[in-house]
Amino acid sequence: MIWTIHISVVLFVLISILAEMCFHEKLFKPLLRKKVLDHIQSNANMQRNASRMSIDDENGYSCGLYYSNWSPYSPRLHYPHDINLSQVSHIYYSFFLVDGETGTLKSSDEWSDFAMDIYKPLAIKLNKLNREDVDQELYAKNLPMGLIGELNFLRHSNVLGDKNAKDFKVIMSVGGWSNRQEFPKVVRDAKKFDKFIDSCVDTMFKYGFDGIDLDWEFPEDDGFEPQKYLEIVQNLRRKLDDLESDIFGGHSAGNHNRFHLSMATPGFAEKLNIMPIVEMNKHIDIWNMMTYDYYGEWSETTGYHSNLYDSGPQNEKVDMLYKYSHSSGSDERLCGNAAVTQMIEKFGVDSKKITLGMAAYGRGFKKVSANKTDTRFIDKAFHGVSGGSDGETGIWLYNQLPLGGSNEVFDPDYVSAFCFNPKSKTFVGYDNVDSVSVKTQYIKDMKLAGGFWWESCGDTHNDPSRSLVNTFVNEITSIKKFPNSMYHQSSVLKYYIKRYGAGGFLTSIFAQMIEAK
Ligand SMILES: *[C@@H]1O[C@H](CO)[C@@H](O)[C@H](O)[C@H]1NC(C)=O
Ligand SMILES: *[C@@H]1O[C@H](CO)[C@@H](O)[C@H](O)[C@H]1NC(C)=O
Ligand SMILES: *[C@@H]1O[C@H](CO)[C@@H](O)[C@H](O)[C@H]1NC(C)=O
Repeated sequence: MIWTIHISVVLFVLISILAEMCFHEKLFKPLLRKKVLDHIQSNANMQRNASRMSIDDENGYSCGLYYSNWSPYSPRLHYPHDINLSQVSHIYYSFFLVDGETGTLKSSDEWSDFAMDIYKPLAIKLNKLNREDVDQELYAKNLPMGLIGELNFLRHSNVLGDKNAKDFKVIMSVGGWSNRQEFPKVVRDAKKFDKFIDSCVDTMFKYGFDGIDLDWEFPEDDGFEPQKYLEIVQNLRRKLDDLESDIFGGHSAGNHNRFHLSMATPGFAEKLNIMPIVEMNKHIDIWNMMTYDYYGEWSETTGYHSNLYDSGPQNEKVDMLYKYSHSSGSDERLCGNAAVTQMIEKFGVDSKKITLGMAAYGRGFKKVSANKTDTRFIDKAFHGVSGGSDGETGIWLYNQLPLGGSNEVFDPDYVSAFCFNPKSKTFVGYDNVDSVSVKTQYIKDMKLAGGFWWESCGDTHNDPSRSLVNTFVNEITSIKKFPNSMYHQSSVLKYYIKRYGAGGFLTSIFAQMIEAK
């Protein structure tokens, strides 16, 4: 194998030099393309039988990662190719923003989304992987730019040397916490509303996403906004169905790939109760439960922020300034299990459509009132929050924990890890490999679809024994892959080229893929 690669490389170089000398343009260009395409293998067996939902329904568990477009910046310096993509079923690309003035969707960072040249960091990565057989200049010349370009490339590519690394879905995440004020403006204006729906579906397809993940945090409990959120879901599904029939024609009788619609879902009863979950569930494929952020700077006392269980009465006191728009004064419990069981038992959601959210970050509290005999640091007074992750108050990336001068401890009653520095009296609650291990068993026991993380850059990427995703994958054993997904279908690629023409962001790479088939 190695030898054939070497021989082909030698031949390729010889032919290239000859070609450059003799025919240059005519011969050289197609050769370049061929070489790139060696790594973009299309699936020969494309026509598979339809299953109930979508022809690419696969067995195994979901392993989703939110990947933010600020990840490549210092101090994170985290690129898509740093993820062990063989362990991933879905990348949720965060975020595209709602523009409350017009209703259209806009990039939150055009440079990192579409323009950044990632092939230099990719080349460094390939060198580390000893992939001398890969001609990096070819990639630099032929492949689309930006994080979105790289993700589109990697999901068809064996360039990272692991055949399981490809065939993941890339989903466009819309909204997010920082964009929360724009949704209300859009849903109060019929024109903006329609524009938003059209713009979501067009942007999704133009940039090669497999679906849309809605992240409105959160509608108010006014009867109006939750109803509008439902209408967003219904209208998006309708528009996605229209796009599918434009692509596949009317004859396929639904036996074709489907674009995916998911929702970043509140992980606590107060917000779940106001949402028309039962109606939404007719259209939502995956409910990504945000079973984290239970405690933070807005809380009255310290607490774990991503605990699976909550055995204490102390949580009645919580005052979630930001997250609770109206306090019910009830004793609703803040923990992953409460949110998941509510979805299943109260709203009748199929457990196979639910993914459990896990946190690749901790939330830290300063000047915690604790004494020498304490072994648990929740439910205590604090003064200020502590965080070591640029620009985000109170947040530590998991890969920067435990804090210096502290030990990592696992609390099995709540299923959370924590560390406490007695000098600065700083407490941080977070997920570690022990809590992920218990949560993995929970996902199996509850027959959930799988798990996901906010966010990819927080995990360790050079120490598998401490990696949260690696722990999950090793224990759940089987991860969904999508070798027959939307953008593996020639009909989809052809439709794309017809629709967007030469100027389409992915037209040239799609044209090469069609040629290779
Ligand atoms: C597809 O399904 C039909 C009916 O269920 C069956 O007759 C046919 O053999 C299947 N084709 C393949 C390729 O599995
Ligand atoms: C990536 O994940 C796979 C599957 O879990 C594992 O076999 C492989 O060793 C991992 N690769 C690296 C570089 O850690
Ligand atoms: C230390 O804290 C524990 C539990 O919060 C409490 O029972 C105990 O009285 C405290 N001791 C001192 C010396 O403050």
